[in-house]
Amino acid sequence: MEETQKVPRHVSIIMDGNGRWAKARGKERLYGHFEGVESVRACVEASVEAGVKYLSLYAFSEENWERPDDEVSGLMELMMKAMKEELANFLASGIRFLVLGNRARLSDSLNAAIDSIQEQTASGDRLTLILFVSYSGKWDMLQAARKLAASFAGNPEDIDFKDVDAALVTSDIPDPDLLIRTSGEQRLSNYLLWQCAYTEFLFSDTLWPDFRKPQFFAALKEYAGRDRRYGKVK
Ligand code: IPE
Ligand code: IPE
Ligand code: MG
Repeated sequence: MEETQKVPRHVSIIMDGNGRWAKARGKERLYGHFEGVESVRACVEASVEAGVKYLSLYAFSEENWERPDDEVSGLMELMMKAMKEELANFLASGIRFLVLGNRARLSDSLNAAIDSIQEQTASGDRLTLILFVSYSGKWDMLQAARKLAASFAGNPEDIDFKDVDAALVTSDIPDPDLLIRTSGEQRLSNYLLWQCAYTEFLFSDTLWPDFRKPQFFAALKEYAGRDRRYGKVK
C-alpha cells in the first residue's frame, strides 16, 4: 500500500546523451537518437506497469533548432516515423499521446501527423505520454504572458497563479513529481521552469540510449524514499 502511494503521478525526463553514446561507438549522432527511441519504448512500458499516469519527455528544445541541418531534419523524420509506428501500441495500451511546444515551427506534415495521432488516442486513460517538441520554458512563459495580457485588459491584480497555470501549454497536465535528466548533466536547459517549482530532481550518469526499464524502476525507487516538504515543517 505504502509503495503504490509513492508512485509519482507525473514523471518527466530530459533525455540527454544520445550524441555521446553514438560517438563512443564511432557512429554518427543520429545513430544515438535512433537507439534512444528504444529507451522511450522501455520507459513508456515501465510507466504503464508501475501505474505512472503522466510521462513527459523533452525531445527537442527551441535551442536545438540551432544544431546542424542534417541532425535537425534527421530528428524530425525520426519523430514522425516513431510516432506512426507506435500508434497501434498507443491504442492497444490505452495511451493518450500529446505533443506540446511551439508547434508553429514544425512542418505542416509533422503537424498533420501529430494532430491525427492526438485525435485517435484522445480517449487513452492508462497513461498520458507527452512529447515536448520545439519547447522551452521561457517560450512557454512568454506565450502565457501574451495570452494573459490579451485576456486581462482590466486590473493586473486580478491575475492569479491558477491563471498562469491555465495559460501555459501544460494547462491540463499536473506538475511533474519527478524530473530525471540522463547523461550526467545537472541543469534544466530551459525545460519546465514554472512547472518544476516543487519537483524532485534525479540526475543519472547513464546516457539516454542505455536508460531502460531497470534504470527507470530504480529512479521510481529513489523517488519513493524522498521526503517532499513543500517548505513546511513535518
Ligand atoms: C539528447 O541527446 C537528444 C536531443 C537533445 C535531441 P544529445 O543529442 O543532446 O546528446 P549529447 O548531449 O550530445 O550526448
Ligand atoms: C536538452 O538537451 C534538450 C533535450 C534533451 C531535448 P541539450 O543537449 O540540448 O542541452 P544542453 O545544450 O546540454 O544544455
Ligand atoms: Mg545533450
